[in-house]
Amino acid sequence: MSQIMEMLVRRGFIWQSFEIYGGMAGFIDYAPLGNGLRRKIENLWREFFVVNERSVEIDTPTVGIEEVFIASGHAEGFTDVAIECSECGRVFRADHYVKEKLNLEVDPTIEAVKAVIEEFDLRCECGGKFKEPEHFNLMFETKIGPGRGKKGYLRPETAQGIFIAFKRLSDYFRHKLPFGVAQIGRAYRNEISPRQGVIRLREFNQAELEFFCHPGEKKHPDFHKYADDVVTLVDKFDKEHRITLREAVERGIIAHELLAYFVGKTRRFLLAAGIKDDKLRFRQHKDDERAHYAVDCWDAEVLLSYGWIEVVGIADRSDYDLSRHTKYSKEDLSVFVPYDEPVKVKRKKVVANIAKLGPVFKEKAKKIAEELGKLESAGDEVKVVVDGEEITVTSEFYEVREVEEEIHGEKIVPHVIEPSFGLDRITYAVLEHAFDVDHVDGEERKVLRLKRYLAPVQVAVLPLLSKDRFVEEAERIAESLRESGVYTELDTAGSIGRRYRRYDEIGTPFCVTVDHQTFEDGTVTIRDRDTTSQIRIQKGRIVEVIKELLNSEKDIKEFGEVFRP
Ligand code: GAP
Repeated sequence: MSQIMEMLVRRGFIWQSFEIYGGMAGFIDYAPLGNGLRRKIENLWREFFVVNERSVEIDTPTVGIEEVFIASGHAEGFTDVAIECSECGRVFRADHYVKEKLNLEVDPTIEAVKAVIEEFDLRCECGGKFKEPEHFNLMFETKIGPGRGKKGYLRPETAQGIFIAFKRLSDYFRHKLPFGVAQIGRAYRNEISPRQGVIRLREFNQAELEFFCHPGEKKHPDFHKYADDVVTLVDKFDKEHRITLREAVERGIIAHELLAYFVGKTRRFLLAAGIKDDKLRFRQHKDDERAHYAVDCWDAEVLLSYGWIEVVGIADRSDYDLSRHTKYSKEDLSVFVPYDEPVKVKRKKVVANIAKLGPVFKEKAKKIAEELGKLESAGDEVKVVVDGEEITVTSEFYEVREVEEEIHGEKIVPHVIEPSFGLDRITYAVLEHAFDVDHVDGEERKVLRLKRYLAPVQVAVLPLLSKDRFVEEAERIAESLRESGVYTELDTAGSIGRRYRRYDEIGTPFCVTVDHQTFEDGTVTIRDRDTTSQIRIQKGRIVEVIKELLNSEKDIKEFGEVFRP
C-alpha cells in the first residue's frame, strides 16, 4: 500500500487536500492523472448503466433542504455511535475502534457499545476513559440564505434528488415501468474518524442508479445476459457460494431476478474497469446491518491491501423512499398501471334512496347522495359532511347493494432497486489491482497495467534525441493523435529508457518513438507497455493503428513485426 501511495502522489494521481495547511483527514485532491482516470471510469459506468440500460441521467443540487432528509429518514437515522475520550478529547467511531482494538464486531447501538466498553475496560489510545457513547449524525448541516436562513444539509447520497423529482420523471417515461434514473456527483458524510486514507472520505463521488419497478415484477428482460455468469457470493449467514446467478435466484440466495441482474451487471462493469475477478465477491448484508431503507442488500467487495472493501451497494429499497416522500410532501408519487384487459369486480356500495332524501334534506339531498355513494358499508346510520356541515343519515335513506364494476388498472407505489457505486473506492481499487512490479533487462520495473481505454495518458510520443528535427517530427505525430481524440503527451526529457519507465509507471499503454530510421524510411516504433516489445510502422498509419489498439486487447504484433531492442 505504501509503495502504491508513494507512486500515486509522486506521479500526480492523488494529493492530500489542504496540504500546505497541514491537510485534513477525509479529503483528497484528484491530481491530473487521477482525475483523468476517475472521469474515464465515470464514462465507462455511464456506458453500462445509462446508455445500455432503460435509464436516463439527471443532475440535482448537492445541497438539500431539511424537509427532504426528514422524509428520507437521514435526519433521524443516519448516525454512527461515537466515543469521546474524557482525557485527550479524541473521538472515534465506536464499532471501528472496538474492531481495531478487540477484534470484535459490536452492534452500532449505544447499549451494545456501552456494554463492550465496560466488559473489556476499553480505553482511549492515550489511556483515558471514554465518556458515554453518543449518536453522531453524519450529515453536514448548513444554512441556506442570510439571517436565520433555512436549515439544509449537504446530500449524503445522490439518490434523494432522484426520488423527490419522481413525479416529473414518471411523466417523462409516460408512467411506464420499469425505468431507471442515474445520477453521478458528490456526496458528503462527516465521517467520525476517517483513518483509511482514500477509502473513507468526507467528500466523495457516487454514481447511483435508481431502478423503479412494479413491486410484483422484479425481473429484467436482459437477465439472460448474466444468468450463466459464475459469481462469488457470501450470504448473510457468512456461507460462501461459487455459483451462477441463475442458480442463486433459483435457490433463493438472491431474493429476485432484478437484484441478481444488477449483481451480474455490476460484476461485468468492475471487470471492464480492471478489477480482478478472483479479488471480487458479493456479500449480503446481515439483518442487523442493513440501512434504514433497505429490505435486502448485496455489497460488491474488492480485496485490497486494506482488506475486503465495499465499493458498490446493491439494495432493494422497496417503496420506502417514495412512500415517505408521499407522506411528508402530500404529493401522490404513485403510478397508474393499466391492466392488459379490464377486469370486472363485485363490490359493496351504499346507494341512496333519492325519493326519500329529497323531501327531507331538500337542496342538500343530491350532495348527500353523492357522499353516500363513496361508501362501501353503512350500519343503522352514517355521518356525511356536506358544505362543511356534518349530517347524520339513518338507514331508511339508503341501502347497501352489491354492484359489478369494470376496473382498468391499479395505482401502485413503485419499488426501487439501487446499485450505488463509490467512484473513489473503485478508482483506487483499479489502481491497486493494476499496480505490478516486474523485471525488464535485469532491472526492477514498476508498471500500471490499466485497461488501455482507461489510461489517463494513452500515448507518449518520444523523440529519441532532443534535436530540433526529432522534436518537430514528434510534435507533428502528437498533434495528429490529439486531433483524433487520443490523449497524448510529448516528452523530450531524459534518456529514452527513463522515459519508457515513467510512462510504464503511469499506465500509458503505448509509446511512439521517433528515431534515426524515421528520417530514412518514414517509420516510427510503437512500444507496448505490458510486454515492452515494439513494432515499426509507417508514421502515416499511427493514428489508425493506435486507435484500434486502444479500443481492443489486440497484440501489437497484429500490426507489424515485433522486436525487442
Ligand atoms: N444510496 C445508497 C448509498 O449511499 P452506501 O452503501 O452508503 O449506499 C454507496 O454508499 C457507496 O458509496 C459505497 O459502496 C462506497 O463505495 C461509497 N461510499 C460510502 N461512504 C463513503 C465514504 N465515506 N468515502 C468514500 N466512499 C464512500
